[in-house]
Amino acid sequence: MEVLELAKARYAAKKYDSNKRIPQETVDALKEVLRLSPSSINIQPWKFTFVQNKEVKSQLAAASLHNESKINEADLLVVFSVADDLEEFQHVVDTNLPDGLRNWYNSIKNEIPEEHLRVWLSKQVYITMGVALSAAVSLGLDSTPMEGIETDKYVEILGMTTYKPLFAIAFGYAAEDDYNRPEVTPKSRRELEDVVETI
Ligand SMILES: Cc1cc2nc3c(=O)[nH]c(=O)nc-3n(C[C@H](O)[C@H](O)[C@H](O)COP(=O)(O)O)c2cc1C
Repeated sequence: MEVLELAKARYAAKKYDSNKRIPQETVDALKEVLRLSPSSINIQPWKFTFVQNKEVKSQLAAASLHNESKINEADLLVVFSVADDLEEFQHVVDTNLPDGLRNWYNSIKNEIPEEHLRVWLSKQVYITMGVALSAAVSLGLDSTPMEGIETDKYVEILGMTTYKPLFAIAFGYAAEDDYNRPEVTPKSRRELEDVVETI
């Protein structure tokens, strides 16, 4: 499919076929695509937690508000987290970034309030949501991005210490009777001329 067709085909799935498994090579491709995501000064302040273990997935589902059934039905849940322990993350910066970029990060860190630094780091993780959703549809997967998760409970369930979840995405194959399929519920968007300016 060409890119516009893929954009029209992608939608937020609301009901999954719980009998369908994702091939391992597709899961592996998704992992690699996420690792290759871009970020400002190549800072990469993220952790992607792939959950296919049914028991852990169902614990996370129970901490996901109105998203519980989707997460239980979908084959894969990926939790997207941002560096939370900034001292610990400094080691990542020191060992991975070349001098120029490391100096850049260190000066940003010293110049802006910590709260703003954390917002900036989180923005970098959000870039990977777009990457993941586009990758999923081109890999033939349905997906659901979800901010409707209880992040504190996720931290406990996953035993996280240095990263903090921001959002999750369910991946799998939508149920035949998913009411949100675009052919049943057409996409709703603002008009092109209202959101795009051409100068
Ligand atoms: C950041 C973000 C958070 C979202 N959170 C949820 C969610 O918790 N549960 C859900 O079912 N859909 C969620 N969605 C899906 C949106 O409602 C959906 O993308 C939007 O209505 C456009 O519809 P479409 O993706 O089907 O084209 C979220 C989407 C984004 C981008």
